[in-house]
Amino acid sequence: MSAPSPSVAARVPACKPEPFGGLAAGGSKASPHPQPSPASGRGRTSGSFARVLGREGWGEGSPSRRLAIRGDLLDFSAAPAWGDVESTAVRFRPDHWLLIEDGRIAGAQPDAPDASWVRQDHGGRLILPGFIDTHVHMPQLDVIASYGTELLDWLNTYTFPAETRYADPAHAQAGATLFVDALLAHGTTAAVVFATSHTTSVDAVFEAARAHGMRIVTGKVLQDRHSPDGLRDDVLQAERDCIDLIDRWHGVDRLAYAVTVRFAPTSTPEQLAMAGALCRADASLYMQTHVAENRAEVAWARELFPQARSYLDIYARAGLLHPRSVLAHCIWIDDADRAALHAAGAQIAHSPSSNLFLGSGLFDWRAAAASGVAVSLATDVGGGTSLSMLRTMADAYKVQAMAGQRLTAWCALHAATLGAAQALGLTDEIGSLNAGCSADVCIWDWAAGPVAQRRMQVARSLHERAFAWMLLADDRNLVATYVAGDLRHRRDAKE
Ligand code: GUN
Ligand code: ZN
Repeated sequence: MSAPSPSVAARVPACKPEPFGGLAAGGSKASPHPQPSPASGRGRTSGSFARVLGREGWGEGSPSRRLAIRGDLLDFSAAPAWGDVESTAVRFRPDHWLLIEDGRIAGAQPDAPDASWVRQDHGGRLILPGFIDTHVHMPQLDVIASYGTELLDWLNTYTFPAETRYADPAHAQAGATLFVDALLAHGTTAAVVFATSHTTSVDAVFEAARAHGMRIVTGKVLQDRHSPDGLRDDVLQAERDCIDLIDRWHGVDRLAYAVTVRFAPTSTPEQLAMAGALCRADASLYMQTHVAENRAEVAWARELFPQARSYLDIYARAGLLHPRSVLAHCIWIDDADRAALHAAGAQIAHSPSSNLFLGSGLFDWRAAAASGVAVSLATDVGGGTSLSMLRTMADAYKVQAMAGQRLTAWCALHAATLGAAQALGLTDEIGSLNAGCSADVCIWDWAAGPVAQRRMQVARSLHERAFAWMLLADDRNLVATYVAGDLRHRRDAKE
């Protein structure tokens, strides 16, 4: 194994938060998402919505790009306590105008703003920060809802063959475009994404996300053993590929790189050490992997790494647990693992749809919360069966119910917005409707169809309404998605 060159940290631009504030009325700032220079070759706009929607809604002639959206504003000022349905951490501002200036949230007020603002009246609708999906696989739209297997068989039968096809740049580009458009059509404006082991798939995700101005974290999947030809990499080439991708993408616009270990069974100890060295060389890099999802997987990992105290400890020993680590699943872990996650500042990406579909197990959210570990929510498509974070929240509620626990709408919504942003170190940018944040916002119907409408009519409290919405709504309720103040998806082009 060769350690990454010491110059990596110097060559990788730090993922600095963009400058916020200074949004004085009438002031103008440079676009937070400047178009790439033609020389970069990445200035192309991909995706149907980018072409059709883009800046529509701004009133092109408006000197300061001011947009005001009316609706019921809902977000969080802090983390709601477990089980508290009347949490003071919930910030509900019914019938307010959300003010967006030059792509950032400028404030909110009950009264209509003056005529310098382009107004979008969505009175009676719900306005939320865009959802953050902290674990999802771009190439697995091709295998979503595949019948009849648990994790290891599912990987071999469906997933690895599908991912092998992403070596083809045209296939990767088409898949990434479809994927990013689908995220936006489900109200997800930021995501932590697995590409494949091919650099071309990483380029495709970054390019598609960049064209929409999205906050995306992704990386090349590392897997140098127990993987088929066409997907398996090797330590030296993988290291070179990672360094090259980091150099080209990390910190560009709203994009960040994640050192992406598929899972311990498909990496040699040498590859894990290389991944750990990359993380040590630049603390601004994210790390993502799977851990303790399925019992057969856990047994296999323990067999392959007998010196580790636990499956999670394999990653700890390789230097892969740190404040930017996103660990998917964490079902079959113990209190010592939870303490290690907490001490490292790492987060758990809980993927209830996937866990149910693949029969993996029931995640103990309460124990994670009690140990102080951050839990965010994730679809884990294609193990998960929907890109909808609402379906994911509904599944999360049912998983907790199986253990006699009650997940409030507040805990679930927080985990899909501000909680995820906090765990990713991005609260200055995403996860809330705070002034200064990027205007990544979604407009939702409280109810779609007569059953949900009736349920909303009889709901007595805000939590009852929010919970019924969380259980009954899906992408049909989504009216519009804005990213950095630009309209990127709308349900009905005529609305
Ligand atoms: N473990 C290793 N790879 C995968 C994957 O692609 N999906 C899920 N759910 N678990 C994994
Ligand atoms: Zn996964």
